[in-house]
Amino acid sequence: MSSPNFVQANTKGRLHSAAEPVISPLDRGFLYGDAVYEVWRTYEGVVFTFAEHWTRLEASAAALYLTLPFDAEGAWRELVWTVAAFRAVVPDVGDLYIRLQISRGGGAIGLDPALADEPTWVFLVQALPAVAEEKMRAGLRVVMAEKIRRNHPSTLNPAWKTGNYLNNVLALREAKAKGADEVLLLNLAGEITEASTMIVAFVRGGEVITPPLEAGILPGITRRVLIEQIAPRAGVPMRVERVLPEDLASMDEAFFLSTTKDVTPIASIDGRAFRLGDDTVTLRLKAAFADYAREQTLAHPERAVPQK
Ligand code: PDD
Repeated sequence: MSSPNFVQANTKGRLHSAAEPVISPLDRGFLYGDAVYEVWRTYEGVVFTFAEHWTRLEASAAALYLTLPFDAEGAWRELVWTVAAFRAVVPDVGDLYIRLQISRGGGAIGLDPALADEPTWVFLVQALPAVAEEKMRAGLRVVMAEKIRRNHPSTLNPAWKTGNYLNNVLALREAKAKGADEVLLLNLAGEITEASTMIVAFVRGGEVITPPLEAGILPGITRRVLIEQIAPRAGVPMRVERVLPEDLASMDEAFFLSTTKDVTPIASIDGRAFRLGDDTVTLRLKAAFADYAREQTLAHPERAVPQK
């Protein structure tokens, strides 16, 4: 009964296995990617940075003129209920991946947002997909997308976390077809932006450098935690600055940042290798991040979700 791949869904208050179809084929999330989403994770049974993700969800929804179906506490109650249902089926896994997807809803076929009935929302809960230890040690092999650029902020703004990831999907496809683990996207000005679902950062001469929001990236919450909390505590200077592909030659280390993967080392970009191993700034930051996450777990008992 208990399967490690089980995904619990809560669609508009109805609990079911995510393997079961529930949403109308007229749903605008399916037809047009007319949706927003967020992803949280737990550390030791406590949801990390719940409020920060909620605030970003509100910003994404506002950008799409989409009215959210509940407030933060309403969402929290549904989240807890969904986790409890997941735990009843899969009691024996550790940290969780929690996703909230909200589309503008269904209605008559047509682009006009006024045709939408009411938002469709789904919470999804599954075991946190972990990066294999071996991969974490060896680092990710990355290539720069050649065919696809990151959307310009005046098109589908990368700052909005929408249900339309086709640009990133195609970029990742391109990288995978070349045998790489992950992709980096340039913007139209040729500057490095981010990966398919992760922020990128570099280390040069002991200093961390990460592209600015203006490059056209998601305002990553892990990125913000690193800038505001982790780097200062670890005594690592950090700078937000545009990065060009030719700058890679002078970088010592590179890593990714995201909710699900926290700090993940990069082995190479387009064959240019970076330093790896215990004696790196990257792993120092990863350890400092783990300490911070543990601290937050103790500081936010109100964000604890049902355990086994
Ligand atoms: N991805 N950039 C993009 C395009 C992303 O989709 C994400 C998050 C990030 C990292 O942001 P944060 O630190 O706030 O998670 C950067 C989530 C985890 C996902 O889609 O699974």
